[in-house]
Amino acid sequence: MRVIHTVAELRQALQGERTTTFVPTMGNLHDGHLSLVRQAKGFSGPVVASIFVNRLQFAPHEDFDTYPRTLAQDCARLAPAGCDLVFAPSERELYPQPQGVKVVPPPELADILEGAFRPGFFTGVCTVVAKLFAIVQPAVAVFGQKDYQQLMVIRQMTAQLALPIRIEAGPTARADDGLALSSRNGYLSADERAEAPALARALQGLAAAVRAGGLQDLSALEAEAQQSLTARGWQPDYLTVRRRADLQPPTSPAEPLVALGAARLGRTRLIDNLEF
Ligand code: PAF
Repeated sequence: MRVIHTVAELRQALQGERTTTFVPTMGNLHDGHLSLVRQAKGFSGPVVASIFVNRLQFAPHEDFDTYPRTLAQDCARLAPAGCDLVFAPSERELYPQPQGVKVVPPPELADILEGAFRPGFFTGVCTVVAKLFAIVQPAVAVFGQKDYQQLMVIRQMTAQLALPIRIEAGPTARADDGLALSSRNGYLSADERAEAPALARALQGLAAAVRAGGLQDLSALEAEAQQSLTARGWQPDYLTVRRRADLQPPTSPAEPLVALGAARLGRTRLIDNLEF
């Protein structure tokens, strides 16, 4: 497995290659990332993973400075998972000038849910992903379904910019107790880690309540789910049921639905979702 730090070297290494499968990451890899790499291995062509902590998608009060940078450890895990090439540019390499050109996703999808609590987040994500797509020029890119809204935003960006890239979703990897794997789980204390699966359970409860009772009392069910977490010491941003098609509030229980949640446990903000 090669590790490449510059755009020029990467272009050279992938010259003429039309079947690359790409797994973009911010590093600090866990088994969920490795499952995306293994999924990528199932397509033909080389697998390229990027490791880049993208300043553009962090608000000033967020954890950009403290986000774990663990390149050697990440590479040691990527090679046995089947990754062929790691692209790990410096900030100066990816953003040699202040990034004035940005990719702004549509507000009806990007300014709700995560975007409402993290303004500018999806513009930061789209800008770096579009730039990485331009550099790697993959045929396929694999994104985790744990970041449900991000996956939808990337799909829409790719479609609307007519990028010739197939976007594949990787199922959420979970610990035995149901906690969705996330790089930020590493911030949890032992007590918080024991409590953390309550977010997935709250979403399961919300989905079960909607399945049983329909959408009539949806706001009350959502408020109840949030209160159940608040009572356990969480600070929820949202626990909600949306249409899978566009993440808008559902109008019929016959529509494919997804329960989405984001909540803070101590200093750690966790997100999760459940299609039902
Ligand atoms: O999901 C992530 O790790 C990041 O948002 C991504 C897609 C690598 C862009 O920085």
